[in-house]
Amino acid sequence: MKALVLSGGSGTRLRPFSYSMPKQLIPIANKPVLEHVLENVKELGVTEIGVVVGGRLSQIQTVFGDGSDLGVRITYIEQEAPLGLAHCVSLARPFLADDDFVMYLGDNMLPEGVKPIAEEFTADRPDAQVVVHKVADPRAFGVAELDAEGGVERLVEKPQQPRSDLALIGVYFFTSAIHEAVAAIEPSARGELEITDAIQWLVTHGRDVRASVYDGYWKDTGRVDDVLECNRELLDGLRPSVDGEVDAVSTLIGRVVVERGARVIGSRIEGPAIIGAGTVVTDSRIGPFTSIGKDCVLTDTDIEYSIALDGATVSEVRGLRSSIIGRFASVGPAGQDTPHHRLVVGDHTRVEVAA
Ligand code: TTP
Repeated sequence: MKALVLSGGSGTRLRPFSYSMPKQLIPIANKPVLEHVLENVKELGVTEIGVVVGGRLSQIQTVFGDGSDLGVRITYIEQEAPLGLAHCVSLARPFLADDDFVMYLGDNMLPEGVKPIAEEFTADRPDAQVVVHKVADPRAFGVAELDAEGGVERLVEKPQQPRSDLALIGVYFFTSAIHEAVAAIEPSARGELEITDAIQWLVTHGRDVRASVYDGYWKDTGRVDDVLECNRELLDGLRPSVDGEVDAVSTLIGRVVVERGARVIGSRIEGPAIIGAGTVVTDSRIGPFTSIGKDCVLTDTDIEYSIALDGATVSEVRGLRSSIIGRFASVGPAGQDTPHHRLVVGDHTRVEVAA
């Protein structure tokens, strides 16, 4: 079996970060979402991975190279524009040939993995096997209506009156039958070749399409609040380790990771929390549920339930919560004797100031 991981897309819901980086490189517990995904794929015993990328091939390639650090072999497939998930399948046809494959959305997190579902698929080889998850409000999702044996009877996009609460989540298993379906469908009203249309085509043509329920934690990290929530979930399982320096007057409470080359001076770190390699934390309180990336500088500050990306600087600002601070961004005090706030805020950025 091969894998096709989708790492293009426009990422409009994750602005401003997606202006300068592919959203799949946003760190969750200090590791890019895409790395979590590639590790999950590898757990299935799949090492031949096609990664579909948009205009940001070089950034993704810089991080993952040919995949050998993760023990996989990556073939990058460039998509000129985000023309839909089924478009990705057709672009990847030369890579996929007629092999079975798992398609994984590069911004979806299923930390418990899908190994049992992959095993079912490999044993029975239906034409397609979708992964579904019970959701509270199915109206926001593509929904699968199933028969008593778990066969898919119908897929409905964002149903107003849902007859099922099983949402399609970002993992699909396919045999080469999907290629005929992808070739047969037309772009949807939003101009994309939809994978749900291709799967529905298989159902309509009497092919064997099944669904398996994934019960574990699932998150589509498409929006800022989802990224923060997923970060909290993953930090909850953090294993503590201290490879950096912590001075005698600092305290670490609970599960804390201090990576190599990081320094904690006169500070209190409340786990779960990660202080990234090379970061310096001085006279501050960090955490709980906070990840600080590499080479950040935090001075005289307190921050909780948040993520700072590599190279961020925060000084003399207290009470930060549920925040994401971008790469090399700086949050700090106004100049001396200035009664004003001064903001240099990028497009589609959100600043919320306590009253
Ligand atoms: P989405 O999150 O549905 O699409 P998007 O990135 O365009 O998001 P937004 O709504 O915020 O603009 O895509 C799911 C995954 O599939 C994500 O990892 C991006 C990837 N993708 C592609 O690689 N190519 C595509 O044509 C599309 C639509 C998505």
